[in-house]
Amino acid sequence: MQPLQRPERIRGMFAGIAPRYDLLNHLLSANRDHGWRRATVAAGEARPGDPVLDVCTGTGDLALEWARTLGPRSAVVGTDFCEPMVRLGREKVLRDRLPVRLGVADTLRLPFADGAFAVASVGFGIRNVADLGAGLREMARVVRPGGRVVVLEFTRPANPLFRFVYYVYFLLLLPLLGNLVSGSRENAYGYLPRSVLSFPDRGRLARKMEEAGLRQVRVLDLSLGIVTVHVGVKP
Ligand SMILES: C[S@@+](CC[C@H](N)C(=O)[O-])C[C@H]1O[C@@H](n2cnc3c(N)ncnc32)[C@H](O)[C@@H]1O
Repeated sequence: MQPLQRPERIRGMFAGIAPRYDLLNHLLSANRDHGWRRATVAAGEARPGDPVLDVCTGTGDLALEWARTLGPRSAVVGTDFCEPMVRLGREKVLRDRLPVRLGVADTLRLPFADGAFAVASVGFGIRNVADLGAGLREMARVVRPGGRVVVLEFTRPANPLFRFVYYVYFLLLLPLLGNLVSGSRENAYGYLPRSVLSFPDRGRLARKMEEAGLRQVRVLDLSLGIVTVHVGVKP
């Protein structure tokens, strides 16, 4: 297991920042996170009524985006192993009256039958799972043949000039601002860039998805390659 992603550490870290998590997502991404989630849902190509699972759902923003897009007939489930994050997500589900069920579950042991969903998605979550390959395999397991696994994740921009400018923000300013506003005692916003830099790049992540049994893996770059959406089809 990678020490950076020890489950107790990750769960405690997200519990600590949960109250300010949404605010900081919007602030630190200059509100780009809404567009990234919309692009992820579009890439998943689900139809109204299709059962969709969003793992590592946190406060549920990607699950909520699925429900808004697929409409009142949608059947969206979101899971996360950090209960305080899920509790905040449930408040948003009630407030917005969306057909989303959120539950506490480990992405490495999903409590669903093989092939239960048309699509399984994960937003900024798989990087935090202790075993990337096992997490992807578990997502693929619960998707039916012909269904999709969609991964939204931070990555390293390819353009060296832009990368330099971006890293000044991502490695220096973002941790300062994030830890200050969230009050994180676990340096959660220092962990963010460290975990992104040690995570597989777009090509390696695509290969990991293939190793998890997915095919036709395609990669979309968003916001000058800060973020990618990977989509794979279960044969
Ligand atoms: C950066 S947040 C992403 C939340 C949300 N998907 C979003 O787009 O804002 C990562 C989430 O992954 C969850 N997580 C990490 N490892 C997990 C695991 N093994 N099982 C379930 N959730 C996990 C954390 O609890 C946290 O809520």
